[in-house]
Amino acid sequence: MTGRPLCRIGDIPDGEARGFSLGEGRSRVDILAARRGGAVFLYRNACPHAGTPLDWVPDRFMSPDGIHLQCATHGALFRVEDGYCVAGPCAGRSLTPVPAEIGSDGTVRATLPG
Ligand code: FES
Repeated sequence: MTGRPLCRIGDIPDGEARGFSLGEGRSRVDILAARRGGAVFLYRNACPHAGTPLDWVPDRFMSPDGIHLQCATHGALFRVEDGYCVAGPCAGRSLTPVPAEIGSDGTVRATLPG
């Protein structure tokens, strides 16, 4: 299965994350893409606590220290590398991962079921 293109890796500054929406209406899927060097980690942009998007302000996903992904609603902190919640009301739960591929041309693709 071929993933759906989101962006080029260079569109995400190293250490930051960006939000993307794929599809329309009921089939719309919101994804966040977090970059660490040459790696990109994709998750559904939905907090395991209350299901809201992590970013109140578009593309503001990182904690003030830049270490974790942070939910804007109640402040949960998630590890970038595996989406595990290390602090907050959903500690011990995880963001839903989305398989990612990076092509030789730097295109980041998300593989979604269906
Ligand atoms: S909705 Fe994310 S911490 Fe509550």
